[in-house]
Amino acid sequence: MFNRCKSIYVPLIALLVFSVGLMISQNSYAATGKPQLHHVPSSNCGSCHNKIFKQWSGSMHANSTALKDPIHGSFYKMLMGSPTQEDLKTKQGKFPLCLQCHAPNAARDKKTKLDAMPAYSEGINCVACHTMKKAKGPIANSQLGAKAYEYSDSALQGPNGSFSGNKPVQAPGGSGSVVNPFPHEARSDLFRSSDLCLGCHETRNNGNGVPVCATGPEMVKSGNTVTCQSCHMPVVNGVVDHSMAGGHHPAMVRRGVIFAVQAQNNPNGAQATVNIKNTLGHNLPTGAPFRNMFIKVTALDAQGLPVWSNYKKSPFKEDKKSVMMLLLVGKDGKPTSPAKASGIGKDTRLKPGESRDIVYDIPVKGAVKIRAELYYDLLLPPFKKKFAKTIPAALRKSSLISIAEATL
Ligand code: HEC
Ligand code: HEC
Ligand code: HEC
Ligand code: HEC
Ligand code: HEC
Repeated sequence: MFNRCKSIYVPLIALLVFSVGLMISQNSYAATGKPQLHHVPSSNCGSCHNKIFKQWSGSMHANSTALKDPIHGSFYKMLMGSPTQEDLKTKQGKFPLCLQCHAPNAARDKKTKLDAMPAYSEGINCVACHTMKKAKGPIANSQLGAKAYEYSDSALQGPNGSFSGNKPVQAPGGSGSVVNPFPHEARSDLFRSSDLCLGCHETRNNGNGVPVCATGPEMVKSGNTVTCQSCHMPVVNGVVDHSMAGGHHPAMVRRGVIFAVQAQNNPNGAQATVNIKNTLGHNLPTGAPFRNMFIKVTALDAQGLPVWSNYKKSPFKEDKKSVMMLLLVGKDGKPTSPAKASGIGKDTRLKPGESRDIVYDIPVKGAVKIRAELYYDLLLPPFKKKFAKTIPAALRKSSLISIAEATL
């Protein structure tokens, strides 16, 4: 009898002691001897938050480092060097600024070997955002990315702070009860405001002080007070969507634009007016300075065959009014790359709320239909050419965003 009891109780007591120990150690994450919070890989969070993990995995935040994003990678390797080298320095002997935004966990540790751990190679991962406590305030160029925030090393930060960790809780995926090893703190003011994004999406000047990206200030200037999250993090299937669609997702770009065409015959042939409207509080396109859009207009005859188009090979050369882009120039006034630019030549991107009419004179007879197509490009033609070997064709291809037709 005694023996039998012992055989049951010993494991039970051991389990109890173990559980209490576990619970005590979980009161403060920092005291557990586990990896630092900003070293926790996203797969760890994904075991409970599986929907969010999947959404995030496909986002550019999860693919933001030179190891994963071929576009960023091509520029990084050209300007900085290898993403697998430790102690990489710029030509001026400084830590590569790029990592403050593209690999913030590595930047916090002043490391440049990004394959050293998942928390570095994952770029902007769960803990990169969910350890942010506070945005430090007005952001200077020297204070971008990870430097723009104060972080917590002891508790995850979230929009509601709905519980404090260490208690068994219902798994977000729905499958039973789990013990959450992470204490949480509420940080609604930060997580529900654009400040959470602006440390990385605010103005970024290049070495010559030229603002190459400026999504934040574009919104401020337009007087738009809607948060970034309200569009970029909608609630989908019961969770806050973390896919962060932008330029890499034609379906998102499509949502930012109203596109229409009107046309009539005239003595010379026909005239078409394309109207394009930016419905957003930031530029269209916004963000990286090589994003661009262009319009192709074709006149079709009764057989549906093209009898005229606004360009044959390149709208950039043959029909500049159809292109929406930021032209960066060097001291000689000639087009140059973001890193070398010393000024802004021309900015034909659509400003917040802007509605633009573009008129096309079509000097041919016999057209019965005008078709206008809107295309979006991640890269300007010189970069497509320069990085033809390292950037896959799919990322160099123009995406068809919208089609509008008018009958004559
Ligand atoms: C770019 C920053 C960022 C990254 C990266 C990020 N989150 Fe979030 N997360 C947010 C913001 C902002 C909110 C609050 C959104 C809101 O409520 O408007 C949020 C909300 C949440 C919530 C609360 C959802 C709810 O329904 O209230 C959970 C859970 C969460 N994130 C988990 C994760 C996990 C897991 C990952 C990694 C797979 C992750 N987050 C990556 C910024 C981020
Ligand atoms: C063992 C399961 C589990 C793990 C692992 C886990 N969480 Fe959670 N998490 C939960 C539960 C349960 C909730 C509360 C229910 C809910 O809001 O969905 C939650 C809530 C959250 C919230 C919302 C808090 C708020 O303010 O509303 C965030 C943010 C979050 N988790 C982030 C993370 C991150 C980041 C990781 C990885 C470092 C992680 N979680 C790991 C179970 C887990
Ligand atoms: C730690 C820096 C950081 C924070 C914080 C951050 N981002 Fe980003 N975000 C980036 C970087 C870097 C990229 C580009 C990654 C790439 O393409 O290599 C990016 C990409 C994006 C894209 C996708 C662009 C595309 O090309 O498709 C969107 C949309 C976006 N971020 C929105 C947000 C929003 C909204 C927030 C706040 C909730 C936020 N980001 C917070 C750094 C950040
Ligand atoms: C009204 C909805 C809306 C709001 C608010 C909004 N965006 Fe966007 N955003 C879009 C749409 C639609 C696109 C795709 C078209 C484009 O690239 O301009 C986009 C594109 C982007 C991109 C992609 C740029 C690229 O290079 O691929 C980034 C980054 C971005 N937004 C960041 C932000 C940030 C940061 C905020 C807050 C300051 C914000 N957005 C507010 C709707 C919105
Ligand atoms: C202040 C934060 C920040 C810094 C610093 C930064 N970037 Fe970015 N970068 C972003 C954001 C945010 C995006 C994506 C959204 C957008 O287009 O604005 C981006 C996008 C890019 C893209 C386009 C990626 C794609 O998939 O299309 C390239 C290329 C790039 N960055 C290169 C660099 C290089 C090289 C450096 C260092 C010299 C650097 N960035 C420094 C924030 C930053």
